[in-house]
Amino acid sequence: TRSYEEGVAENAWEEEEEEEEEEQAEGAEEAIGSSKEKEEESDMMNIPVVDLSEGVESEAVRTAIVTACQEWGVFYVANHGVPAQVLQRAHRAASRVFRLSPDAKAANARRAGSLSGFGKPHISKFYDSLMWSEGFTVACDSIATLSRRLFPADPAAHLYFTSTFEEYAGALRELSSKILGALLLGLNVDVKRFESTHFELRDCPSYFHLNYYPPCPQPMMTIGLAPHTDSTLLTILYQGDDFGLETWKGQWKLVAPIKDSLIVHVGDLLQIISNDKYKSPLHRALVNKRKERLSVVYLYPPPATKTLYPIEEGIDSGSLYKPLSWLDYVQAKGKYFMGAFEYFKNK
Ligand code: SIN
Ligand code: FE2
Repeated sequence: TRSYEEGVAENAWEEEEEEEEEEQAEGAEEAIGSSKEKEEESDMMNIPVVDLSEGVESEAVRTAIVTACQEWGVFYVANHGVPAQVLQRAHRAASRVFRLSPDAKAANARRAGSLSGFGKPHISKFYDSLMWSEGFTVACDSIATLSRRLFPADPAAHLYFTSTFEEYAGALRELSSKILGALLLGLNVDVKRFESTHFELRDCPSYFHLNYYPPCPQPMMTIGLAPHTDSTLLTILYQGDDFGLETWKGQWKLVAPIKDSLIVHVGDLLQIISNDKYKSPLHRALVNKRKERLSVVYLYPPPATKTLYPIEEGIDSGSLYKPLSWLDYVQAKGKYFMGAFEYFKNK
């Protein structure tokens, strides 16, 4: 298997050699097709599916979550408790957001110092080429306010957006804190004790980030979202029925949509506080020729300024990272991108 750095570097769309680009300009359907073949070749390598119907109280469920986060850092959850209708409504509400006029989008553009609003991917400054996507971020504690600004003359759209995302946010907070609890137990950490020294698992800030990828005439010449890891504890993603997400596991591997399931990614902060036991996986999104694609991403970072100490229990060889807050981390990531891990390493 090849390294993380090779995953970041493997971007056909940033290569300058035209000949090579032409050879590769076959369409993401083909890219997706070839990923599928690779997947069939190596059925040892299947992204885990965790069935939550027995709840995280079940040891078997907890073990499945822990193993998935150690080996992959990404897994599907089935029977997660979020009604399929809520997922579908969120997808529909997201699609409506990107159908707003350019003027409405400009009026709601992301402003300096705020994460919320429309804008280019945050990682754009680390890549020379443009990505084939638009994004919209909303902090979960201001869904209604932002929605009113998005749809000032359309009360029905405002109501639909607000009620859908508020319900979805509530369900995902619940799910995130359950999964985090299971992962702490997997490190032999007492959850109550962790909550008294770090933060309440249910009490983190949260955001939705909506991604919109229009169809692309030459998908292999571009990318929807370039390789990155998430600066969160956990990220929970819904991608509808459309292919595009890939994860790095020594090679790019398709994360095919499974109906009504959610996809959980371990984020950088969870990798750090777990002393690298849980892996924050590199992932990217491809685009395709035929059809637009949307993803609805829930971000669950720790409280912004709370200092986090890599947790001690179960760690025999000392802490790999220096104490840090989410804010410290995000600032370093803004400077060093994938070098942020190294920046906080104890030398
Ligand atoms: C993301 O990493 O934020 C989104 C990836 C996707 O669209 O599937
Ligand atoms: Fe991501």
